[in-house]
Amino acid sequence: MAEWHKTDWRRKPRVQMPDYPDADRLKAVEQRLASYPPLVFAGEARRLKGLLGEVAKGNAFLLQGGDCAESFAEFSADNIRDTFKVILQMAMVLTYGAKVPVVKVGRMAGQFAKPRSAATELVDGRELPSYKGDIINGFEADEKARIPDPERMLQAYLQSAATLNLLRAFSTGGYADVHKVHAWTLGFTAAPEAEKYREMANRISDTLDFMEAAGIRSEAAHTLQTVEFFTSHEALLLEYEEALTRVDSTTGQWLAGSGHMIWIGDRTRQPDGAHVEYCRGVQNPIGLKCGPSLTSGHLKALIQKLNPRNEPGRLTLIARFGAGSVAEHLPRLIRAVQEEGAQVAWVCDPMHGNTIKSSSGYKTRPFDSVLREVREFFAVHNAEGTIPGGVHFEMTGKDVTECTGGVRAVTDEDLSDRYHTACDPRLNASQALELAFLVAEELSARRAGVKQAEAV
Ligand code: PEP
Ligand code: CO
Repeated sequence: MAEWHKTDWRRKPRVQMPDYPDADRLKAVEQRLASYPPLVFAGEARRLKGLLGEVAKGNAFLLQGGDCAESFAEFSADNIRDTFKVILQMAMVLTYGAKVPVVKVGRMAGQFAKPRSAATELVDGRELPSYKGDIINGFEADEKARIPDPERMLQAYLQSAATLNLLRAFSTGGYADVHKVHAWTLGFTAAPEAEKYREMANRISDTLDFMEAAGIRSEAAHTLQTVEFFTSHEALLLEYEEALTRVDSTTGQWLAGSGHMIWIGDRTRQPDGAHVEYCRGVQNPIGLKCGPSLTSGHLKALIQKLNPRNEPGRLTLIARFGAGSVAEHLPRLIRAVQEEGAQVAWVCDPMHGNTIKSSSGYKTRPFDSVLREVREFFAVHNAEGTIPGGVHFEMTGKDVTECTGGVRAVTDEDLSDRYHTACDPRLNASQALELAFLVAEELSARRAGVKQAEAV
């Protein structure tokens, strides 16, 4: 793509990006990062693009999840393992329950920079510059900590590299072996959905025993012992993205070396803005958050910019309207896609349109609204005859109390118990599993409906 260069975004209007006070320090960091190895390879990004092409056709389902924002303070092997484990469990529920291949993508190993609705925020009654994620400034309620510091990019890079290293080891080193389906159970043993999971795990183990006894081994063995796991994050901090952008020697095309899939946030999707300009030039699969303010005209312009060759798997549209609003917005955007003749994967983010302030003052998300938005997303696709391709959510493997509701009923008063997020409220492991069972039910019902329609 000779007409595009990784620095072109610098000539476009930018929003949500920090103003670094020291231009020389910024430049020095950018130069160092540009000399470091990329975190992902082009072949991997192309592989994910191929899989997302299958998602767009309805032959696979995308499961994308992880922290709202990774943080330097919560960086540990246990946290990475627990998030990975919940994603594996959810994937198993979907694969087994809905009999569909699941494409697994973490919001991990690079998900650091956050868009914010306002430039300042009130912390303990004090007005401070907003926290923008650990890659940009500090979470501490301190004026100095909130000054954007470019050196943070180096730490984010190193943390991402170590996270990805562990994820690669977990994926192929035996931990993700399906024979371990029982071992992935986390410490929420009393919950009813944990019981449901255990029952399913028993049936899977049983099937594996049968296969082994029947002599079905060799070729399938590798597939059962490893998983393909990909990373993703919002490409918000373009200095960081640019520094990790490389030319892929196989194809001569640009690659964002910071993660397999990158997405454009709901606040940075201006068709002529810096973020769209950056993303349009790299070959990675691109996600686009679609909120209520996205017009059909803008969506069409974005499709043309981001996927001019209509390549399957290139563009994933992540709908995040809020429960009660899906029927108002999704059909008109589906129509815009159809009018363009565009191939896209539609995915539901039931988190970002459902954030409220609880009576106890915490930012939360009622789990009921999360489930409701997922149901509405499926209902609209079923009515339109289009494909619900996946879910995108914020979760953690820890037993936090950040979203209210769920079978273990977190109440407004409980929120203060274990509210650990540096940014948006996440589903805990038990709520995430409950969500997976609901999605599996929706998918199975849909498949049954499709089969019935075919039979008539
Ligand atoms: C996010 O995914 O963390 C996010 C900020 O989403 P959105 O851009 O959809 O608000
Ligand atoms: Co978020």
